[in-house]
Formats: sequence, structure tokens, C-alpha cells
Amino acid sequence: MKRIGILTTGGDAPGMNVAIRAAVRTALGMGIGVTGIEKGYRGLHEKLFIELDSRSVSGIINKGGTFLKTIRFPEFKDPGVRKKAYANLRSSGIEGLVVIGGDGSAKGAYYFSTDFDFPVVLVPASIDNDLYGSDFTVGFDTAVNTAVEAVDKIRDTATSHERTFIIEVMGREKGNFAIEVAVACGAEIALVPEIPADWNGIAESLRAQEAMGKTSSIIIMAEGAGKAESLAAFLREKLPEREIRYSVLGYIQRGGSPTYFTRVLATRFGSEAVRLLAAGKYPFMVGIKGDEILYTPLKRVVTTSRLPNLGNIELINRMAI
Ligand code: F6P
Repeated sequence: MKRIGILTTGGDAPGMNVAIRAAVRTALGMGIGVTGIEKGYRGLHEKLFIELDSRSVSGIINKGGTFLKTIRFPEFKDPGVRKKAYANLRSSGIEGLVVIGGDGSAKGAYYFSTDFDFPVVLVPASIDNDLYGSDFTVGFDTAVNTAVEAVDKIRDTATSHERTFIIEVMGREKGNFAIEVAVACGAEIALVPEIPADWNGIAESLRAQEAMGKTSSIIIMAEGAGKAESLAAFLREKLPEREIRYSVLGYIQRGGSPTYFTRVLATRFGSEAVRLLAAGKYPFMVGIKGDEILYTPLKRVVTTSRLPNLGNIELINRMAI
């Protein structure tokens, strides 16, 4: 293999730059040229290609986001769009692809690889931690820490005013992120897309917690489980004697300098992805189990749903007494 391409796609995640850096330097060290593809799959289609060398990835290990840019490009579902992308790779002498992204990116990577029997390896990178085949995705740890820091600050005002706060966090389809934040913040309740919420039951739980002497509560709500604003309005009706407030954390959860854990994970993943490509092993996703790096067929990744750790929902309830 003489040249590979690297792209980042889907929602950005802290650590994407770190994975790019590791992939570039591993490839160069193996005598493999590297083409950076800007703006994800759209860049593949529009041939937004740049030459990368070791200096291209200097000074980025501590930078969130992705210098290759990313974009959501649903057009990549069109086989004709993928065909043009393939032609662009071939005409540029690119023989393999490292795709850095989340669940949507995994599907694109799988279809592209199988359409053309083209070597593709996925580095799982998303704050959602929603990909089968790895204990962690790049960016999850950093985003959880960012959210925990924000919720801790909100808890200060919640306890000072004896208020109930509903905090909406990211997670459009999966609750992994919300559950992890809820356990780490000692939230009384976590609401996730996978479990339909009983809002009357939430009011009952708050009443029971008050009877145990709790004067403030934190509810962590994944955006896929509903709107914090709507739940706040509902609870104000049900519990007129309580002060109910809400906050939507939003996009701060996607930025920030990657934590050491994210940096080490992204470096291991980015480097391993290139080694797999060079060994002709594809289409795979690199992942981690415990401390062991492994790789999973992309077909398995895209056809297997990763359920959140619902045992931690029980743990949250146990801690909320
Ligand atoms: O997939 C990561 C994610 O941050 C989700 O948690 C969130 O719902 C979504 O991306 C937001 O998408 P966008 O950046 O396109 O608004």
C-alpha cells in the first residue's frame, strides 16, 4: 500500500485530531503517503484532498475538533455519489481509507468498502459512545467530563435555592452518554431514549425524595428522551410548591481539549487503523475491550445495536435515596 486517505465525518468529537495525527505518523513511518480529505464524505465526493506530512499534525494533540473539518453528508447514501468518490480515490492513487466518525459514518464506511472491495478501517469517534465493538469511542470520556463539570456548577445553585433542575444533555438516539453523566454527577433521575419516561412517575419520585429530606434534585435528560423545557413545565403543574428550572448544555459537550484518556485511546486507534489497512485487513472497526485493542468486522458493527448500560439506571436509583 503506497498511499492512504484519512477523513473525519459526522458529529465532531474531541480526539479526532489526535487520531488523525496518529494515523498520519504511523503511515509515514511505514513509508505510506497520506492524503487528508476535508469535510468528510463530501470531500471524498468533491475531491477536497490535501497532502499531509508529519508537520501537518504538529501541535494538535491537545486541540478539540478536527482540522480536516467534518460535515453531515446524507448524499453518501446514493450509490452514484459513492461511485464518484471511488473514482476520485483511484485517480489520486489512494489505496486505503481511514474513516474517523460515529454510527452514521460506520454505515457509509461499510457500504463504500463493500461496493468497491476497497480497504476501509473505521476509528470510532463520537461523544455518544454508541458503537458496537468497542468499550469506548474517541471523545466520549472528554465530553462526559465536560458535562460533569457543568452539572456540578448547576448543582451549586440547585442546592442554594433548593430547586429541582432538569439538565438536557446530548444523545439524540442513545442514552449511554446521559447515563454516564448521571452516575458521575449523583443525579437522582436519568431519562434516556431507550426507556419511555413516565412523567407522572417522575413527579412521584420527587415527592418521595422530598419526604426523605432532599431539598434539591438533578434530573439528567438525554435530548432523545424529550425536551427539558417541556418536562419542567409539566412538573411545575404537578408540583406547584417546588421551584423547577432547566438547562440545556448543548454544544459545549462536543468541544474542549481532549482528556488524557481520549488522547491515549485516539492515538492507539489511529495507529492501529493504519496497521490494519497496511496488512490488508478490512473492512473493520478498531476498538478496545478492557485494555486490549481489537477489531470488529464493519458489517457486525453496523448491524448490531449497542445498548446502554441499563444496569447503571438501577445504580442511579440505588444512589438516589
Ligand atoms: O452524534 C453526536 C451528537 O453530538 C449527538 O449526541 C447530537 O444529538 C448530535 O450529534 C447533534 O448533531 P448536529 O451536530 O448535527 O447538530
